[in-house]
Amino acid sequence: MKKSFIIIYLFVFALISCNKQREDSIELRINKLIKQMTLDEKVGQMNQLSGVGLSEDMIEMIKSGQVGTLLNEVDIETVNELQRIAVEESRLGIPLIIARDVIHGFKTIFPIPLGQASSWNPEIVKSAARVSAQEASSVGIRWTFAPMIDVTRDPRWGRIAESFGEDSHLTSVMGVAMIEGLQGDTLSHPSSVASCAKHFAAYGATESGKDYNTTWVPEIQLRELYLPPFKAAVDAKAATFMCSFNDINGVPSSGNTFLNRMILRNEWGYNGLVVSDWGSIEQMIPHGFCKDINDAAKKSIFAGIDIDMMSNAYSLNLSELVQSGAVSISMIDEAVANILRLKFKLGLFDNPYTPKPDNNPFYKPRSLELAKQTAIESTILLKNKNNLLPLSENIKKIAVIGSLADSKIDQLGTWCFDAEPENSITPLQALKEQYGSKIDIVYEPTLLYSRDKSDLNFKKAVKAAKESDAVILFVGEEAVLSGEARCRADINLPGAQSELVNEIKKSGKPFTMVVMTGRPLTLEKEVDMADAVLFQFHAGTMTGPAIVDLLFGKAIPSGKLPITLPRMVGQIPIYYSHKKTGRPASNITFIDEIEVGAPQTSLGFTSYFLDAGDTPLFPFGYGLSYTTFNYSIPQLSSTSINKTDTLTVFCRVRNIGEFDASEVVQLYVRDDVGSLVRPVKELKQFKKIFLKKGQTEIVDFQITAEDLSFWNSDMVKRAEPGSFTVWIASDSRSGSDVNFILE
Ligand code: NOJ
Repeated sequence: MKKSFIIIYLFVFALISCNKQREDSIELRINKLIKQMTLDEKVGQMNQLSGVGLSEDMIEMIKSGQVGTLLNEVDIETVNELQRIAVEESRLGIPLIIARDVIHGFKTIFPIPLGQASSWNPEIVKSAARVSAQEASSVGIRWTFAPMIDVTRDPRWGRIAESFGEDSHLTSVMGVAMIEGLQGDTLSHPSSVASCAKHFAAYGATESGKDYNTTWVPEIQLRELYLPPFKAAVDAKAATFMCSFNDINGVPSSGNTFLNRMILRNEWGYNGLVVSDWGSIEQMIPHGFCKDINDAAKKSIFAGIDIDMMSNAYSLNLSELVQSGAVSISMIDEAVANILRLKFKLGLFDNPYTPKPDNNPFYKPRSLELAKQTAIESTILLKNKNNLLPLSENIKKIAVIGSLADSKIDQLGTWCFDAEPENSITPLQALKEQYGSKIDIVYEPTLLYSRDKSDLNFKKAVKAAKESDAVILFVGEEAVLSGEARCRADINLPGAQSELVNEIKKSGKPFTMVVMTGRPLTLEKEVDMADAVLFQFHAGTMTGPAIVDLLFGKAIPSGKLPITLPRMVGQIPIYYSHKKTGRPASNITFIDEIEVGAPQTSLGFTSYFLDAGDTPLFPFGYGLSYTTFNYSIPQLSSTSINKTDTLTVFCRVRNIGEFDASEVVQLYVRDDVGSLVRPVKELKQFKKIFLKKGQTEIVDFQITAEDLSFWNSDMVKRAEPGSFTVWIASDSRSGSDVNFILE
């Protein structure tokens, strides 16, 4: 025992000193190289351009050291040739880094990040990111602009699709999982891809959910809600950061010294590189924050932005700014060191080229299986009246209605530039493959695409529904309706889809509605009409096989909402961890219940909407299963703890239904009285467990004072003594609570 302990100790010690030696030698090499560089070569490293193949201009720029990193080049031969020019024909032979947005897959496409968050399974998110890194690195991509860890509470914002939802803790866990998957065990491995924590910061707070819009975020909220995922990214050794397009309290992120220097570098000790967003340095001019491009370059370098993506602000102005004394050379050297450090860590100085793979690196059976499992785990069962699902395999005829049932491109979702839609397997295709020989499948697209407003084919759809034993109606959004700049002020189902749902309802046949979307939609009417609802954020290449397994019970739904589903757009922002008010909702009177001419007092005076009440359509964390889980009242290891204690909270979760299934067990905590008003509850931890039918598990969580702390008005993060309420529950609105005291 003692001997093995010593061996482990020596091994860990050797590993640490080996890493230290490697880091020291990288720093020596960086210093040596910087000493040899001219000012223009330094500025060249800070310039990022979008690939244009082997154009003469680009070749010339690389040869003369005017470009340090390139994005959007994905052809392996071009990548290797550009790299050869950098390494063999530029004066100092500094390799390029090739970057690309690999947001939820390169060729094998996984669910959009909001869908991945719905799995509440960080292990699967990490594995998916590993596959994405393996596929992307096989063509020479060694840097990607993911994960996007902007917490957001506005489904109107198209980029909600790229986020992990409304909660800071869930976003942190998922962000770290993606970073670990992309970067692998060590950055120098040829299949590792440097991650990029973006967009720093508060981009998700964009006013009215309109992209590139302003944000106004008090520092306490910034620290409590928007920054924790970024701090977690630093702790997880995210290699790079990207700033955001928005201004935060009047200062655009690309010129924001408080964020990029004071918090990121000084407070958190980050020593990776920070890249601007596309053209965001230049965009400080229309922002009205910089008078010209020279001013923009100066403000960005002062703010600690190391790489200028596509503004040409640095390449045109930095040398002159240094020569005039407006910018110090040490500032430039620091930025160049950050860039070179990544190039060394990626091993590009030693292995700049990407070998052509012997076998096809894309769509490996294991990758497709993982994509299918991720799609399954990201699907949320919102309703299952009379246990309509799962369907019996003995049905004779099934009606499949809605064009999203067979839209190879739309199921992939936004932000997948390298995807090949022809390789998607749609629900209709999977249904035909698996059940075509024994079930008569009638397909009625009815609408050509999600925005189609024509009701011409409604009759055929209703006829198919009436004549079938099972009806599956696919609705949602096409992929192009979410993503960057795809914001919607109306988040109802587009086109005539809602009318179609109405028609199918009128057919009298019980039906399952499958929703495929890039954002939360307002679906109250449609959910009321449907008998069962399977809800997915665009789920990628293997959507079809996943849906079919879920419909027939070969897979059991286990997804949970990473974001609240509103009833109406006017409720936004609506999120589970809202602050307590002095008049919490009670005695809700709806608009039609108010008597004509009633005096004001008859309405009551609490916090709610006359037309939407106080509840969401479905709360954060919600998701049903084909089985039922029974939660006992949580128990505590003690009813009071002090600041150095660890409290154990546990409960018994029993699978009392008819299927073996997974469940996400969620721990919520409330600080009952604080020096600042606290949220009604906050997610602190969660566990995804698997229980066979009839099986019981004791699920426990450990809570320390750190979990109870918050940023107070002195801008100090501290736990305050007093009473706390804790829930272990299946979603953010259910479960029994217990109390304990922090002394
Ligand atoms: C703009 C987007 O905001 C950012 O997320 C992305 O990585 C860059 N363009 C590069 O494509």
